[in-house]
Amino acid sequence: MMAAPMAEPVKRDLVSIEDLSTAEILELFQHADEFRSNLHGWSDVCRGTIMATLFFEPSTRTRLSFESAMLRLGGGVITAADAESTSRAKGESLADTVRVVGGSYADILVVRHPEDGAARVAARYATVPVVNGGDGAHEHPTQTLCDLYTLWKEKGRLEGLEVVLCGDLRYSRTIHSFCYALARFGANIVTMPYPGFELPDYVLQRLRRDYGVQAATASVGDLPGLAGSSNTAAYLTASRPHQLALFTKLGNVEVSRIDAIYMTRAQRERHDGEDTKDYPRLTRSTMGAAAAKDARVMHPLPRVDEISYELDDDPRSVYFRQAELGVPMRMALMAYQLGKIQLEAPPPPLFSVAPGDASGVLGLRCRNERCITNNEGVRYLVRDFRVRPDTTPMVLACAYCEREVEARFIGDTASRSVYEHNARQVREIRKECRAYFATEDQARAAGFTFPSA
Ligand code: NCD
Repeated sequence: MMAAPMAEPVKRDLVSIEDLSTAEILELFQHADEFRSNLHGWSDVCRGTIMATLFFEPSTRTRLSFESAMLRLGGGVITAADAESTSRAKGESLADTVRVVGGSYADILVVRHPEDGAARVAARYATVPVVNGGDGAHEHPTQTLCDLYTLWKEKGRLEGLEVVLCGDLRYSRTIHSFCYALARFGANIVTMPYPGFELPDYVLQRLRRDYGVQAATASVGDLPGLAGSSNTAAYLTASRPHQLALFTKLGNVEVSRIDAIYMTRAQRERHDGEDTKDYPRLTRSTMGAAAAKDARVMHPLPRVDEISYELDDDPRSVYFRQAELGVPMRMALMAYQLGKIQLEAPPPPLFSVAPGDASGVLGLRCRNERCITNNEGVRYLVRDFRVRPDTTPMVLACAYCEREVEARFIGDTASRSVYEHNARQVREIRKECRAYFATEDQARAAGFTFPSA
């Protein structure tokens, strides 16, 4: 398995789960299996390599499993695990920190940060590979690798699985990365959000547009539904042939069976004081439902009260296994990013950290208030958007947090005139002179005027 190190490893960042192709993920599982078969046998793989963990938010498993993985690969670890102990407390930007730490201090960086899109900033400014250890409510791709790996080992496949996502689906970054991956692998997703904490619209839209995963029902669910009460759930189904399985009734949702229930805690640190009274809880009784007979109980941990302790020794509970598999999975990932192992699988076609198509577009601002471009990045980041092809009005996705915005108005920086996106005059504006705006007010505030008809 261990090929000779490449002379000049390509910088492979993992910011979003989309940064790895499906084939690469499956190949990484094989490597993780090999690492796991003899955890102590790989101390030559990354000898002389240093990993830095920069964690500006609390963590137990993610940071320690990364550190353990690098130590098991024979490398060294330096760590900043407390934001207050770094220069961030003095006002240093993430960009400056990673520029300094990535390079002579460390060969790979693992970053956790409270702001959405922070990991992309780190990836752009660091000269060494960056791994997103969780950025705000955006993504947590390595947790997803562990989750997929666990499910794949438990069920022998991912395609066609029925997976229930439960709890705080709005702010859980683990859920966001996981559902994109599930959709890509052809699993079916049942959402059971705590009311008010549904999957955000932008995630639903992406599932629909990029993977053909449709919201069949949009009613709110609750866990007692599993035990057959009248509670409801939203059902998303991939528009693929494997959907045409035999369905049975679960609440008012039809599924053939449940393969996994992925529970999440209320992400209180990201809430605006919302009440989470009566938050769902998995118990022996909910898991007694016929549909859940073979369901695996999953959780990224830490658990607060969402899974009753009585389920810990139920053979279907795999949450501690997810955490355990995190070490070999992260060994495989980092060995790959550092060029110590090579994969036959090609990377995804869009693999790129290059600036987007609409870099620095005038007027447009990411509409996600938690995006790093609207927080610490205000000081130094150039706003950057990627154009989603074939969209009218044009949809632009923030290159950092990926939140989308519609450019309903397009201005001409030469004449300072602005038009509706579908106006005839827009076609005449040269590409480099275009300024994009979501609202009329934004355009006027930037000094553009609407010519009278
Ligand atoms: C998760 C996280 O940080 O997003 N924890 C983890 O990394 N395993 C989940 C959580 O904190 O609820």
